[in-house]
Amino acid sequence: MSLHTQHNQLIGIAALLFLILSLVIAVLPAFEAERTPPLSGIEQLSDEAKRGRVLYLEEGCGYCHTQFVRDLPVDKPYGRGSVPGDYALEVPPLLGTQRTGPDLANVGVRQPSEIWNLIHLYNPRAVVGTSVMPSYPWFFDTKAAADEGDIVVPVPEAFKPDGQAVIAKQEAMDIVRYLQSLKQAEVE
Ligand code: HEC
Repeated sequence: MSLHTQHNQLIGIAALLFLILSLVIAVLPAFEAERTPPLSGIEQLSDEAKRGRVLYLEEGCGYCHTQFVRDLPVDKPYGRGSVPGDYALEVPPLLGTQRTGPDLANVGVRQPSEIWNLIHLYNPRAVVGTSVMPSYPWFFDTKAAADEGDIVVPVPEAFKPDGQAVIAKQEAMDIVRYLQSLKQAEVE
């Protein structure tokens, strides 16, 4: 072989290596993941949670939140290491890349409270003073007095318009149902 004079060979070898690496690192694992059966404890999303998942995508929650727990000491607070069976029912899985906020793969277990999640969505600073997460007030109405059937969110006085009641819209409930559905099932 005379790679220093035969650029065809050089490019050919590089292309072959690239192909083999792509197969080993990306393509074969993807097929294997597709064949992995879902963990038996995984539940199908309710209609509300399905809509919440779409909102999660639209609002870009995934720009700051992963749903992929690494099997590392630093990720211990967020759950066990994720396995392919976690994602078998999720197309596409919302893995995320940035870990500005906590991993949400198991947040339904860690933070199940509907009220906490609603206040946090309205204004994260109302429950976590130093939070850098954006507020999502457009998922709520504010009005002088709540009507019957309204879901009133007990936002602390300092964080809402004076004398107004904060009412959760359906979208806020959908996101919270989605967050509550994020639970890691037991690995068999
Ligand atoms: C700019 C980055 C950013 C974006 C965008 C963002 N978050 Fe967060 N999120 C954070 C940070 C930082 C925290 C930790 C502080 C706190 O609890 O507010 C957090 C915390 C949380 C928690 C509590 C997690 C726990 O372990 O207690 C939930 C639930 C959550 N976010 C959901 C959402 C949802 C739903 C969206 C989209 C509607 C969203 N986040 C968008 C940064 C972000």
